[in-house]
Parts: sequence; C-alpha cells; structure tokens
Amino acid sequence: MPSMSNHWVRLVAVTMTLALAGTVQAAGDAQRGRVIGYTCLGCHGIANYKNVYPTYSVPKLVGQHPEYIVAALKAYRGKQRSHGTMYAQASSLSDQDMEDVAAYLADAVLPAGAAPSGAAPQKVTELCSACHGANGVGITGDYPTLAGQHADYIARALVEYQKGDRKNPIMGTFAGQLSAADVKAIADYYSGQRPALQTVRRPNWL
Ligand code: HEC
Ligand code: HEC
Repeated sequence: MPSMSNHWVRLVAVTMTLALAGTVQAAGDAQRGRVIGYTCLGCHGIANYKNVYPTYSVPKLVGQHPEYIVAALKAYRGKQRSHGTMYAQASSLSDQDMEDVAAYLADAVLPAGAAPSGAAPQKVTELCSACHGANGVGITGDYPTLAGQHADYIARALVEYQKGDRKNPIMGTFAGQLSAADVKAIADYYSGQRPALQTVRRPNWL
C-alpha cells in the first residue's frame, strides 16, 4: 500500500504540473497585447465614453476576466453578438491576438470573495449570484464580472439577451425571467459593487 499511495502522490504532482504548464501557455502575452490594445483604448480607455445611436456606455474592461474578454471577442467575430464596430475590431484579430490583448486590457484582478455592499435584489440571489457572485465578481473566468460596470451597459446587455440580439443559451434563459424593473434594479446593484482592484497584471514596463 505505501507504494500505491506514493504512486498517487506522484500522479497528482504530475497532473498539477501539467495543469500549471497549460495555464501558463494559455495565458496571453500582455506586452504583445499592449500594441494591439492601442486602438481599443481609443474607446475602452476613455472614462464614460459612449456608443452613439443608440447612446450607452462603452463597457469597462479593467478588472474583467481575460477569459471572458476572449469569449466576448469571439462572439462578436462569430456574430452571436451584433455590434458593427466590435465585429470589425474582432474580425481583425487572430485567436492569439485575442488572448494577448485580453491579458493587457484586463490589467488587474478583482477579489472574488469580497463582501457585497448593500442588499442584493431577490432576483440576484435567486438567479444570478451563482455565476456572477453576490458582489458581481464572476466566480470563474467564464462568467463576466459585473461589479462596477456601467449600469446602462449591464441593462442593455440584458435586454439584448432577452431580444435574442445576443445569442447565448445560458443568458437567454436567465434574462428571460426578468421584468424591466428587475433589469434596472439588478443593473444598479451590480454597477454599485466596488471591490478593490488587486494584483496589477501589468508588469513594470508600462
Ligand atoms: C469605436 C469604439 C470601440 C473600439 C475602437 C473598440 N471597442 Fe470594444 N466595445 C465598444 C462598444 C460600444 C462595445 C459594446 C458593444 C455591445 O453593445 O455589445 C464594446 C464591447 C467590447 C467587449 C465586450 C465587453 C463586455 O463586457 O461584454 C470587449 C471584450 C471589447 N469591446 C474589446 C475590444 C478590443 C479588444 C478592442 C480593440 C481590438 C476594442 N474593443 C475596440 C467600442 C469599441
Ligand atoms: C449559469 C451561469 C450564469 C447565471 C446563473 C447567470 N449568468 Fe449572466 N452570464 C453568464 C455567461 C456565461 C455570460 C457570457 C455570455 C456571453 O458570452 O454573451 C453571461 C453574461 C452576462 C452579462 C453580460 C456582461 C457583459 O459584460 O456583457 C450580464 C449583464 C449578465 N450575464 C447578467 C446576469 C444576470 C442579471 C443574471 C441573473 C438574472 C445572470 N447573468 C445569471 C453566466 C450566467
């Protein structure tokens, strides 16, 4: 039996090493992403910059999960999301470009465990926090962080899932259960969450 447990210890160690190596490989190169990201900052780097026709806030990307940024870019490129400018931007990027620019634009990490501020609307507790967290920090990289995002952008995204202009099976189902009043209350709640940004990803060269 001792040799058996040694075997398991080795196996676990090897698996963990592989998993870590995989993470390092998959992570984008923020320094390369900085060059690609120059164009993006023309909209995403300006505080309170607005999309026009219709008018709503350009989403914040600082603190967003890089994995989700990549998924969103692929959704614009694949037309699961309809937005002319973002389609044009995403279409010009390779998968590797997306990884790199996401690593650069995400820039910092929001702590997942921080306590939420204020009482969550009941719908948040019932339907949303399992993935987006009670404090709006997505519990894994697949689930976008909503904390501190512009309320009008959160509300617009929810309406787009409801109307099917954003095609996502998970969010179509959840957004479909919300009234207009729910959308506003949830958008205000998540937008008002402000966990402190931590662990700046950008190395010293910036
Ligand atoms: C001309 C302004 C503009 C430029 C330039 C631009 N964006 Fe955007 N971006 C927007 C707007 C507006 C939206 C919201 C679109 C929507 O309603 O779906 C958006 C959405 C996004 C989203 C989705 C965010 C979320 O929370 O869902 C990502 C990711 C993104 N942009 C990344 C980029 C990257 C990377 C670049 C550069 C390669 C870039 N953008 C360039 C205006 C711009
Ligand atoms: C099972 C997990 C899950 C649950 C529960 C869930 N979401 Fe999502 N949510 C996602 C995923 C995955 C995406 C990304 C979809 C995409 O690529 O467009 C998303 C995207 C979003 C976005 C777009 C964010 C952005 O930056 O564009 C908003 C807003 C949102 N969810 C709000 C909600 C609300 C409000 C609820 C509760 C009513 C909810 N979600 C429940 C998984 C979930």
